[in-house]
Amino acid sequence: MKVLVVGGGGREHAIVWKLSQSRFVEKIYCAPGNAGIAKLAESVAIADTDIRNLASFVEKVGVDFTIVGPESALSEGIVDYFNARKLNIFGPTKAAAQIESSKIFAKEFMKEFHIPTASWLSFDKPEDAIKFLESHELPLVIKADGLAAGKGTVVAENMEEAKDAVRKMMIERAWGEAGRRILIEEFMPGREVSVLAFTDGKTVVPMVSSTDYKRAFDGGEGPNTGGMGTIAPNPNITGEMLDRVRDEVILPVVEGLGRKGHPFKGVLYTGLMIRDGNFKVLEFNCRFGDPETQVVLPLLESDLMEIILHIHHEKLDEAEILWKHELSAACIIMASGGYPKRYKKGLPIEGLDKISDPNTQVFHAGTTKVGDKIVTNGGRVLGVTAWDNSLEKALNRAYKAVDKISWEKGFHRRDIGEGFLKR
Ligand code: AMP
Ligand code: GLY
Repeated sequence: MKVLVVGGGGREHAIVWKLSQSRFVEKIYCAPGNAGIAKLAESVAIADTDIRNLASFVEKVGVDFTIVGPESALSEGIVDYFNARKLNIFGPTKAAAQIESSKIFAKEFMKEFHIPTASWLSFDKPEDAIKFLESHELPLVIKADGLAAGKGTVVAENMEEAKDAVRKMMIERAWGEAGRRILIEEFMPGREVSVLAFTDGKTVVPMVSSTDYKRAFDGGEGPNTGGMGTIAPNPNITGEMLDRVRDEVILPVVEGLGRKGHPFKGVLYTGLMIRDGNFKVLEFNCRFGDPETQVVLPLLESDLMEIILHIHHEKLDEAEILWKHELSAACIIMASGGYPKRYKKGLPIEGLDKISDPNTQVFHAGTTKVGDKIVTNGGRVLGVTAWDNSLEKALNRAYKAVDKISWEKGFHRRDIGEGFLKR
């Protein structure tokens, strides 16, 4: 089969890497791709949201199947458009993708289907939001309703931060239309876990659990980012709890979306906060997580394309999905100085050629090639991933590789996974 992967980040590099091992896949294209993906797939210079041109490309070269990475293309209706043109594609429709693209939709949906989550209120006027804040105790969590590249959430510890967040989202419109409406949510203490699941709209199969380190700096300091590192599996979640998450959260969501006439096919990502053996939902995403995918797919024993084909034919119940349960994986994000705010691009990356460990994969995110040099091209630049038979060994391998790679003002967290190690 000829496959097109849409996107150009670390998640897409991990998807392309896994697909390159599939017995069903002969040729991979990636739009737009990046410098690392280009070693495994032919890069196609079409933006991931340029839906019409992607469809025309698929028709022109005879791509058999398209797999979508980012939420932006899904929430803009790439699946609906491809379906209408009778092109095979993996991911939810625009209506089903609302579970991610509107946090207010997700909250109302959770209320309707009795899914545990933080209490919340929505606001469409900044003055009402500020008035509410003034009469409530902090911390509170302020969220833009729409998509903001993982940066539209502020955990406000004090009034100044809270008001700033409202102003930035609703008045300055830092995230454009995404901030037209906001949510103010109860702060939930606890430990976070990400559970990605395959679903064909009927059957749900959770993947190995993971943890994403969302804050920019060590110790959970600094602003929220798209994710600065991940580990899998997450030692905080037992098999029994994962079953409960499937039965009490993921299945009801998939069934509820189906009942509303928006059947969900693809990967449904659930972010949860766990406390005292109970859990509440933080958020849903309508796709593979980034950088969760970079640690989850190396632990997948089965053929990813085979699973995707089962989902496509709505026969996920017949798929055999095996995991490398003996392994743990860790991914360290190496980011541009300044991320998640302003940062420079085009800086030459040194040391990539020094990584030869077969249990380590450097997944590229924001990279591109200038001449024969690989240079930075985004906020999150690389996701250095390694796996081994313990989390500690996986982390050691990953950091050993990280220490060989550098560029001007690059930074990364040194404490990924640390809280799970018994010292
Ligand atoms: P979200 O944009 O909903 O994924 O939130 C980003 C991050 O903010 C989450 O991964 C949590 O670390 C934190 N967060 C979001 N909502 C809450 C909440 N209600 N209580 C505590 N932390 C939260
Ligand atoms: N790692 C969080 C996300 O993919 O949204």
